[in-house]
Amino acid sequence: MKTIVAVSLGISLCIQALPCLADNSNGKQLYLSRCAMCHGADAKGTGPLANKSNPPTPDLATAAFRKRLHDYPGVIVSSVILRPNGDLIPRTLRENGVKVPPHAWTVKDFRDLNEYFSGLVAKK
Ligand code: HEC
Repeated sequence: MKTIVAVSLGISLCIQALPCLADNSNGKQLYLSRCAMCHGADAKGTGPLANKSNPPTPDLATAAFRKRLHDYPGVIVSSVILRPNGDLIPRTLRENGVKVPPHAWTVKDFRDLNEYFSGLVAKK
C-alpha cells in the first residue's frame, strides 16, 4: 500500500511539474518582444532588423554558438546585462523606429529568457 501511495504521489508530482517546465511563456514573451526583431523567432538571425546593423545579427542556431554557450553558459544573460556591443542595439532600434519599452528585469526573467533562448539554439 505504501508503495502504491508513493508511486502515485510521484506520478502526480510529475504531472503537476511538467506543464511548468514545458510552458516557459515568460521566456518566450520576453524573447519575442525584445530579441526576435533581430534574432528571429528561430534564433537564426532572420528578424526584420537583422540586416539593419553593422555587424548584422548572427545566426546563433549553429554548432559554433552551441559550443560558445557550452563553454560560457552566461553568454545570453551577459549579452543583455553587459551590452558587450555598446549602443548597437538601442541605436539600431531607434534608427528603425522600433520602440521597446524599458523593463525591470528580475532574476526569474533572466532564467526564463536564458532557458527559452537556449532551447531555440539547441534546435538543429
Ligand atoms: C537591434 C538588433 C538586436 C536586438 C534587439 C538583440 N540583439 Fe542580440 N545581437 C545583435 C547583433 C548585431 C549581435 C552581434 C554583435 C557583435 O558581433 O558584436 C548580437 C549578438 C547576440 C548574442 C551573441 C553574443 C556572443 O558573444 O556570442 C547573444 C547571446 C544575443 N545577441 C542575445 C540577445 C538577447 C537575449 C536579446 C534580447 C533581450 C538580443 N540579443 C537583442 C542584435 C540584436
